[in-house]
Amino acid sequence: QMMEEKPKFKTVQEVVAANEGLPERYLQPLTDDREDQPLNGPVPEMDIPSIDLSLLLSSSENGRQELSKLHSALSKWGVVQVMNHGITEAFLDKIYKLTKQFFALPTEEKQKYARDIGNVQGYGSDMILSDDQILDWIDRLFLTTYPKDQQHLKFWPEVPTEFRETLHEYTMKQHAVIEQFFKGMARSLDLEDNVFLEMHGDNARMDTRFNMYPPCPRPDMVIGAKPHGDGSATLLLPDKDVEGLQFLKDGKWYKAPIAPDTILINVGDLMEIMSNGIYKSPVHRVVTNREKERISVATFCVPSPDKEIQPVEGLVSDARPRLYKTVKKYVELYFDSYQQGLKPIEAALI
Ligand code: OGA
Ligand code: NI
Repeated sequence: QMMEEKPKFKTVQEVVAANEGLPERYLQPLTDDREDQPLNGPVPEMDIPSIDLSLLLSSSENGRQELSKLHSALSKWGVVQVMNHGITEAFLDKIYKLTKQFFALPTEEKQKYARDIGNVQGYGSDMILSDDQILDWIDRLFLTTYPKDQQHLKFWPEVPTEFRETLHEYTMKQHAVIEQFFKGMARSLDLEDNVFLEMHGDNARMDTRFNMYPPCPRPDMVIGAKPHGDGSATLLLPDKDVEGLQFLKDGKWYKAPIAPDTILINVGDLMEIMSNGIYKSPVHRVVTNREKERISVATFCVPSPDKEIQPVEGLVSDARPRLYKTVKKYVELYFDSYQQGLKPIEAALI
């Protein structure tokens, strides 16, 4: 595994405040696909459906329709918008508000929660694992939120004052959403409701990453988050006003719709493996914006470290041979390839 060595890196907000121009390390190399679809060029919107979470586990006709909608969207895009998830719009607004307030604090205040070298948890830049890593235009606060005994509260902001208790509450609410969604996913594949939950194990973890993309002087040359597939299933709250998130399909980028009050759920690499490739982990990226800052909140649902992840038995057959090896601690090994712009899931292909 690669190690992070440098003492301390400036956050993007610090780079902007220093007003010393755009450091070269943020500039993307010119490549052929940049000419087809320039970073700041127009992109079509993707046509993902909204899935009614409250219907997924209903045995009614409506429930069956919702499952087939889910099946076709996850086979096509690997990501859906989820509505009627049981979290109020007022509560989601509070999450957005607290995220904005945290990143608007003075540097010294945020640095109280700074991550340590070589560790993802805490506030700061993304990990920088090599001298030639091209940097993303993003600052983030990364916290393990579940189970409780894995929380490191020293990284949890005490200002804004409601941050901690709200994050606790959000975690429990998300936990309920994930449980229902994983059961619905299993049902949509004609599997027993609990297969995915069991594969995640009793010590499944949740990590929440609060993302802040400051306005960027060169949206044509700099990227907010480089193309990647998420390691595991993700619940995402994209910014309610500012676009930027894009998904790749058949070599073309599409922008994610903005739909307040919904949660975007992304299958992630491990679910692709468990579903034997029926549901694809979508490659996505975030482009920057010249005028506006953008925020988002992503929660990753990580299986227990002792769990071996492999395609579910019921999805392997002569007609559909097993596509992936068994993997363990995938997410822990994931960051190295992520920062090199590689696709870690390719290493799991048979
Ligand atoms: C992520 C991610 C998208 C966004 O954190 O993995 O893809 O909209 N975020 O910020
Ligand atoms: Ni992502």
